[in-house]
Amino acid sequence: MHWTKRIAACGLALVAGVGTLAVYGESSSHDAAQQPPAASSSNLENWWKNAVIYEIYPRSFQDTNSDGIGDLKGITAHLDYLERLGVDAIWLTPVYPSPQVDFGYDISDYEAIDPQYGTMADFDHLVAEAKKHHIRILMDMVMNHTSDKHKWFLESRSSKNNPYRDWYVWHDGKGETAKEKGEPPNNWQSDFGHSAWEWDGKTRQYYYHKFYIQQPDLNWNNPKVHEAFKDIIRFWLNKGVGGFRFDAITTLFEDPEMRDDEILKDKEGKSYLNAYGDTALNDTMTNNLPGVHPVMQEMRAVADQFNPSVFPGTRVFIGETYLPNIAELAKQYGEPGKPEFQLPMDTQIGFINKLDVETFRTRLNDAETKLDGNIPLLVFDNHDNPRLDLRYGDGVHNEAIERMIATILFASRGASLFYYGDEIGMKTTPPTRKEEVKDPVGLTGWPKDKGRDGERTPMQWSAGPNAGFTNVTPWLPVPPTYKEVNVQAEENKPESMLEWYRKLIELKKNNPALAHGENVMLDPGNMKVLSWLRKGQDGSQVVVACNFTVEPQTVNLTTGGEIKGSHAKALLTSPGGISPASLDSVTLPPFGVYVGEVQ
Ligand code: NOJ
Repeated sequence: MHWTKRIAACGLALVAGVGTLAVYGESSSHDAAQQPPAASSSNLENWWKNAVIYEIYPRSFQDTNSDGIGDLKGITAHLDYLERLGVDAIWLTPVYPSPQVDFGYDISDYEAIDPQYGTMADFDHLVAEAKKHHIRILMDMVMNHTSDKHKWFLESRSSKNNPYRDWYVWHDGKGETAKEKGEPPNNWQSDFGHSAWEWDGKTRQYYYHKFYIQQPDLNWNNPKVHEAFKDIIRFWLNKGVGGFRFDAITTLFEDPEMRDDEILKDKEGKSYLNAYGDTALNDTMTNNLPGVHPVMQEMRAVADQFNPSVFPGTRVFIGETYLPNIAELAKQYGEPGKPEFQLPMDTQIGFINKLDVETFRTRLNDAETKLDGNIPLLVFDNHDNPRLDLRYGDGVHNEAIERMIATILFASRGASLFYYGDEIGMKTTPPTRKEEVKDPVGLTGWPKDKGRDGERTPMQWSAGPNAGFTNVTPWLPVPPTYKEVNVQAEENKPESMLEWYRKLIELKKNNPALAHGENVMLDPGNMKVLSWLRKGQDGSQVVVACNFTVEPQTVNLTTGGEIKGSHAKALLTSPGGISPASLDSVTLPPFGVYVGEVQ
């Protein structure tokens, strides 16, 4: 399954961090002069292991040139905010030149910046300023497809003999004659609805597109495509980026025998229609084929061998890896001597989309025990799915539930990725009329699937005009919630969502048990409260408990995890406070959270 499994209905000076992170922007010789070598090299190598990564949808973050669209200068302008939040790296969704059919995921030039977002000088400035704020910039790397306006595809479609013909996936139609185009080669469907094959009248063949018609798939059986992307990766590494998020990476290859995808059936054995009105298919012939592993090994070798004097430290590879189970996720890390991703996204946990204690416990435990000691990357939200309120909220306790989700995100072992605006509690705000829809997914899927506009609305900076995002009409409307839900209103307000995020992140960085400690599930038979223990290497222990129900719950946190004491010092609790006399009886309010250091 791919990401379209969406719900249609729907100023911390980091004490430990300052000394080590300060070396990040400097050259290696400078590091040697100013830092104890052991500390700096360990941090440069290991920064990603408990990293806090922030996804920015640049179109919606901050407009600085009054066109209603966010831009790179807008991101640079908010680096102080991001540093204070505790962000280690920013994943930028695509800012390359693009016809913007899929808002940047249709790239027409991989080595330039779309003028809508600024210039290459703006980009260089962003990277340089981000370094000063100890923040790395991660680029979105879209290798599955290009825009149909990319020069490679323009060449490819110009004639069957063109040297670029074999850069894309072309195929004859079924039953084609000199007059008739015939049927598409098989039943494969686009993730965005309807056939994945588009007829090209000029050269009389179909081309394959896993996504929009304007996003033709590249042919990864062609070694020249590999070489082209290695060059692109080197280009951005040379600019000092800290790594990449690989888009739709599981879809690089298709079944070489071109077999039909299987038709999905309901319990009665009947096929059914998806939100686009197509017969629902299992996409096993076009998703998660094994060829992707050697490709990622090749790309990773490029990054690992990259000249460290340009950019010291580990360049991280994040994967957009929607996979069916933990065993498939484990494969994404690669094999000994053949690494692939350091951080393939664990979408098993973040997209459960239901507050089910048992499922959370099992999957968090799987991430701890079934990834061969690799680091999990937890993620609950992104630009393709409704925000937390719509997927986990009950409409009454949304804020408490969002705090709980944030706690699972940051207080579990591993790296944490979150989406701009979640830290202030932004809500999904889908269009109410088809005429307002910008995302073509919403146009095709309306009204069953309203598309992704609802989670891409402008960042809410203040209660001023357009929430401080722009001084003209924004490209998507600002949600009405902005009067209360905004950065300015939440700054320095101890019980705000923003402060909750800051405290959790501060703990993740500075508390030894929460930074890297092992995760051990507590009270494993409890179906109402999810609780776990973090065990630091220094012997410190932290307990975390989350009440998944609307009733208060009392839980015994001394069961199941070799807890070294019966009392705890509260590190963070739901607003109102929780102060248990002993860990064997902790009472949590509805959807309440308790984080305490065992004494
Ligand atoms: C996944 C991206 O996150 C999504 O926004 C995009 O539409 C598809 N891949 C196609 O690139």
